[in-house]
Amino acid sequence: MRFEMILAEKTLGELVAENPSRSRLFEKLGLDYCCGGKRTLGHACEAKQLFLDEVVSQLQSEVDPSTVEENPAELPLPALSDHIEATHHTYLKQELPRISGLLAKVVKAHGRTHPFLIELQQAYEPFRDELEQHMFKEEQVLFPWIRQIDSVPVAEQRPALSGPISVMEAEHESAGEALEAFRYLTDSYQAPEDACGTFRALYDALATLERDMHQHVHLENNVLFPRALAR
Ligand SMILES: [Fe+2]
Ligand SMILES: [Fe+2]
Repeated sequence: MRFEMILAEKTLGELVAENPSRSRLFEKLGLDYCCGGKRTLGHACEAKQLFLDEVVSQLQSEVDPSTVEENPAELPLPALSDHIEATHHTYLKQELPRISGLLAKVVKAHGRTHPFLIELQQAYEPFRDELEQHMFKEEQVLFPWIRQIDSVPVAEQRPALSGPISVMEAEHESAGEALEAFRYLTDSYQAPEDACGTFRALYDALATLERDMHQHVHLENNVLFPRALAR
């Protein structure tokens, strides 16, 4: 089978789990590899009207051995749970309140002349509340289960995990929709000409938040959860 066809039949989630640097190209092309990570590359390209052979050749050129990163997807499940908490959850706990503060300032100063900022704040605050509760559930219930999975009889694992995992996946979808709304409202994080420093800092923070959330949800949806369920 040609290399191109082998890649076309892999899912976006599998491709990024094999090599995280591929996420850069998927971000650039707008291919959703986290919540939409179960689609094959072939189907995803078709839906976006992208030429598969061009995407494959770009994917190959992305694989530069000098930039090979440590791949958290290769960690054992307890270490992967620790990694997600220590990097993505810690980042969100610091960044979500900081973005609320930036938004409040920008809305106060520019909300009247740029009313879309008020809509952005109205979409952001419930997203933040839901995400904080979501991380609490992962840290208090789901991840502790996953960390001790090897000491639990196999028959008890799947029923205990499948309910909470489907709830987490549904919440990821809802967070993904909110992030799409932020991108739409901010014209893909292009600050207006007259934007002040705080305005620009807000857009920069939201763009980083989007990238981090994609990597975070990818690790949970496409690596941690399926591997835990497959035990
Ligand atoms: Fe998480
Ligand atoms: Fe999550």
